[in-house]
Amino acid sequence: MGKRVAIIGAGVSGLASIRCCLEEGLEPTCFERSNDIGGLWKFLDHAEEGRASIYQSVFTNSSKEMMCFPDFPYPDDYPNYMHHSKLQEYIKTFAQKKNLLRYIQFETLVSSIKKCPSFLVTGQWEVVSEKDGKQESTIFDAIMICSGHHVYPNLPTDSFPGLHQFQGHYLHSRDYKDPDAFKGKRVLVIGLGNSGSDIAVELSRLATQVVISTRSGSWVMSRVWDNGYPWDMVYVTRFASFLRNALPSFVSDWLYVKKMNTWFKHENFGLMPLNGSLRKEPVFNDELPSRILCGTVSIKPNVKEFTETSAVFEDGTVFEAIDSIIFATGYDYAYPFLDDSIIKSRNNEVTLFKGIFPPLMEKPTLAVIGLVQSLGAAIPTADLQARWAAKVFANSCTLPTTNEMMDDIDEKMGKKLKWFGQSQTLQTDYITYMDELGSFIGAKPNIPWLFLTDPQLALEVYFGPCSPYQFRLMGPGKWDGARNAILTQWDRTVKPTRMRAVGKAQRPQHFYNLLRILSFSVLLLAVWLTFY
Ligand SMILES: Cc1cc2nc3c(=O)[nH]c(=O)nc-3n(C[C@H](O)[C@H](O)[C@H](O)COP(=O)(O)OP(=O)(O)OC[C@H]3O[C@@H](n4cnc5c(N)ncnc54)[C@H](O)[C@@H]3O)c2cc1C
Ligand SMILES: NC(=O)c1ccc[n+]([C@@H]2O[C@H](COP(=O)([O-])OP(=O)(O)OC[C@H]3O[C@@H](n4cnc5c(N)ncnc54)[C@H](OP(=O)(O)O)[C@@H]3O)[C@@H](O)[C@H]2O)c1
Repeated sequence: MGKRVAIIGAGVSGLASIRCCLEEGLEPTCFERSNDIGGLWKFLDHAEEGRASIYQSVFTNSSKEMMCFPDFPYPDDYPNYMHHSKLQEYIKTFAQKKNLLRYIQFETLVSSIKKCPSFLVTGQWEVVSEKDGKQESTIFDAIMICSGHHVYPNLPTDSFPGLHQFQGHYLHSRDYKDPDAFKGKRVLVIGLGNSGSDIAVELSRLATQVVISTRSGSWVMSRVWDNGYPWDMVYVTRFASFLRNALPSFVSDWLYVKKMNTWFKHENFGLMPLNGSLRKEPVFNDELPSRILCGTVSIKPNVKEFTETSAVFEDGTVFEAIDSIIFATGYDYAYPFLDDSIIKSRNNEVTLFKGIFPPLMEKPTLAVIGLVQSLGAAIPTADLQARWAAKVFANSCTLPTTNEMMDDIDEKMGKKLKWFGQSQTLQTDYITYMDELGSFIGAKPNIPWLFLTDPQLALEVYFGPCSPYQFRLMGPGKWDGARNAILTQWDRTVKPTRMRAVGKAQRPQHFYNLLRILSFSVLLLAVWLTFY
């Protein structure tokens, strides 16, 4: 066997990492503090220390064709958006079929990772793990940190004057499991992310009144997109990504805002983001507008202060007789087992090359997998990140120089602020990012070549969903089933919804869409040429 790699965490990032290490002939050991795989997707009825915690009603907001391991499609009868239990079932099947479980040490906490004294020469790390109260120290050649970033709650109590005198009960969304305890109560949810809106909608059926307070608003999208297809199968395409990046920003911003407002006018629901053109992660919630129309959820601005029983909002209005406050205010990430300066090497900000490698490290033997956030799904992103990291560890890929990596980080930081605004996570544009990673390992699909050699496939790759299979279509790590998986992705999408067969199954018409978009662009160009 090759070099020894320690993998911290057996969620989807950890599982992807084990598999990619094996593909490169490395020797992985995965440490998992809990007694199971799946990480966040392993549901428990109480929050466990150091592990992400979800509520009972969570469904994915990425669809199954877009969030699979790229050589492991979901069974065709799986629903497009899955309950967490269904996703966990898939994750377990993947781990079993790929024979990954034997590399995992369960109920083993990694408490410390430190560079060995010989690091400058060997790049090795000392990993201290704890099981049944016993500590063990082991030397590894490389580290993959896969410990998740939805673990440590951001509970901004200091931002809310008067909270200390509030006599009701408050909690973070991490500790919310189901609505039973809120029956007949008046509940204030702070934060309009996916957690806040999911929880508010669920509570609205049992609670007397639910109010969401949002400081900057959010776009709310339906999972059910144009013509009833899953949103990401239609929105996350290479062609759409090309248009978004090629159009002048005022046109692309205008189109974005227009698209986001087609389902309903966000101004009328109080949801409108303060900066609507920022590509901040939207909320995916099919029911929120309807709950607002029914009056069981109301939207309010930020809380100015709390009294013993009520919240006073910034517009001077008051929500009285509050029983509970749920802070759905997101997460901070932390790596308590690692010296902070390794990941936050500048201005206390995460400074990682492509969101993976600390650029100032003397030896490239540490990678963070799963920290970036995009409109694409976590599983294929982790798979590609892990493939690249494993190749770097195996010396079959090299990283650029420190200066080149720092320049790239600075350039990306500028773009990130322009597109996504200030945010805790490493937000990135999915397809651009995946193609960048793919280029490092020779797995980026060669579209012109595909158009010459396999036009049917090329059309689906370029105009259809940028599904994970695309990144195992060619180059090292190629999966022979990728072509077929891409050409049959719409069959698997439609299968679970077409339980009663009436007429022929429909799929999107790429050519028709192309014509529509081209004629719209020509029209825009004509208007622009006329007036400027
Ligand atoms: C409610 C919710 C819904 C989401 N829905 C989607 C979705 O629809 N689509 C999507 O793509 N993404 C979604 N996400 C994002 C989600 O983070 C990813 O899907 C994915 O699960 C992250 O996997 P991970 O392996 O990186 O981290 P995790 O799943 O958090 O796994 C980390 C693992 O590391 C272990 N660990 C941590 N520290 C240690 C240690 N010191 N020693 C040993 N083990 C350790 C933990 O026990 C855990 O098992 C959602 C997130 C949330 C919070
Ligand atoms: N169904 C699903 O698939 C699902 C469900 C839940 C979560 N998730 C995922 O899990 C991740 C975490 O989601 P999340 O909703 O828990 O967190 P989040 O997306 O980070 O949203 C946090 C919300 O809290 C607000 N907030 C933060 N600090 C605040 C403060 N000091 N004062 C007032 N408001 C504050 C934010 O406002 P600003 O916007 O102004 O910063 C934002 O609206 C996301 O990636 C999400 O997609 C998915």
